[in-house]
Amino acid sequence: MKNIIITGGAGFIGSHVVRLFVNKYPDYHIINVDKLTYAGNLANLKDIENKPNYTFVKADICDFETIMEIFKKYNVDGVIHLAAESHVDRSIKDPFTFAQTNVMGTLSMLQAAKLTWEQLPEKWDGKRFYHISTDEVYGALEMTDPEGIEPPFTTKASSGKHHLAYGSKFFTEDLKYMPHSPYSASKASSDHFVRAFHDTYGMPTIVTNCSNNYGPYQFPEKLIPLFINNIRHRKPLPVYGKGENVRDWLYVEDHARAIDLIFHKGKIAETYNIGGFNEWKNIDIIKVVINTVDRLLGRKEGEDMDLITFVTDRAGHDMRYAIDSSKLQRELGWEPSLQFEEGIEKTVKWYLENQAWMDNITSGEYEKYYESMYANR
Ligand code: NAD
Ligand code: DAU
Repeated sequence: MKNIIITGGAGFIGSHVVRLFVNKYPDYHIINVDKLTYAGNLANLKDIENKPNYTFVKADICDFETIMEIFKKYNVDGVIHLAAESHVDRSIKDPFTFAQTNVMGTLSMLQAAKLTWEQLPEKWDGKRFYHISTDEVYGALEMTDPEGIEPPFTTKASSGKHHLAYGSKFFTEDLKYMPHSPYSASKASSDHFVRAFHDTYGMPTIVTNCSNNYGPYQFPEKLIPLFINNIRHRKPLPVYGKGENVRDWLYVEDHARAIDLIFHKGKIAETYNIGGFNEWKNIDIIKVVINTVDRLLGRKEGEDMDLITFVTDRAGHDMRYAIDSSKLQRELGWEPSLQFEEGIEKTVKWYLENQAWMDNITSGEYEKYYESMYANR
């Protein structure tokens, strides 16, 4: 049996990764280490919580002694590290928490793995430390079209596939890091620590940088679940700036599938970018979400467009993210499985059918946070 720690397994992406591993690998023991911050929710894992190959441990990754004990107790072979503070707007208000969790917490996980593994007779053999990171570490891409065509225009990825894009440059694995927000700066720093543990001590590490995920169980402070819930309740939709910023959206289960593949087949010390080749301006995606919610609620499609409210822009708002995931496709054969139209339909349906999940989160403390967050906009 392989003992694998998944950190942040009660969060959005982590819960999908835990579910996939627990169901797909009955001979693995999955240890979900999560502090259960505001973003951690055990209701995300109800369907697998009683499986014999699953253990939940409530712990803070910054608490080094506790993390050491977990490593010893469970004879850990591998780590898939997702625990982090993940929301850019919160990082602008409270950068310290991001440095603490994302940098010091990652360092604590690395050091515990190192001290435990280097004492074993087999040392690093069969061990793996896989760090999940973001495309935001590369900074922002420009919206440019070398031939003067109005974007989005069709372009060819280095994989040879054609897709729609808002610029001619993409995030590739060899780009320099240029983070702009406290969130992305903290993730960039954690990525550097992971690579330093490989280069200095020989720890078998892997880093992946992924684009924006969407799908079930995402905390409703992020664009898509927040807007689905607001449309349902006919609350204003706060669109930052002009809504022109571009993001590359990937269905969360496709990200979990990539993590499974890379954990098992990825090359040590490599970086892989994961993305959907699926660029959207915020305002366009918002219109698709409004139409889909309206239709599924039996309202007239588009009747909630007037909820769109342009508000003060996010400070330092990155203009465009676009991942080139050709390396992952070429070397390991991964591709997104869902078309965006299919993924967004599934996502909206899930939130509308799981209103109790949403209500549990959006009542009480969250309500106060949301009001304070948007009070000045
Ligand atoms: P999330 O905010 O939904 O979940 C984070 C989880 O980490 C929560 O369960 C929380 O309780 C836990 N956590 C936070 N601090 C902790 C601590 N000190 N100790 C233990 N657990 C702690 O985040 P997410 O969107 O699922 O993102 C997961 C990871 O993927 C993050 O590392 C993020 O940077 C990365 N990522 C996210 C996206 C995205 O679109 N959401 C894209 C690329 C990469
Ligand atoms: O690119 C990967 C990153 O994607 C992850 O690393 C982050 O953890 C994840 O939160 C996400 O970051 P973004 O800042 O892109 O996601 P968010 O959902 O917060 O915002 C998406 C876009 O929508 C962004 O351009 C800001 C805008 N926005 C967001 C909110 C919450 C609005 O216009 N209004 C809003 O209310």
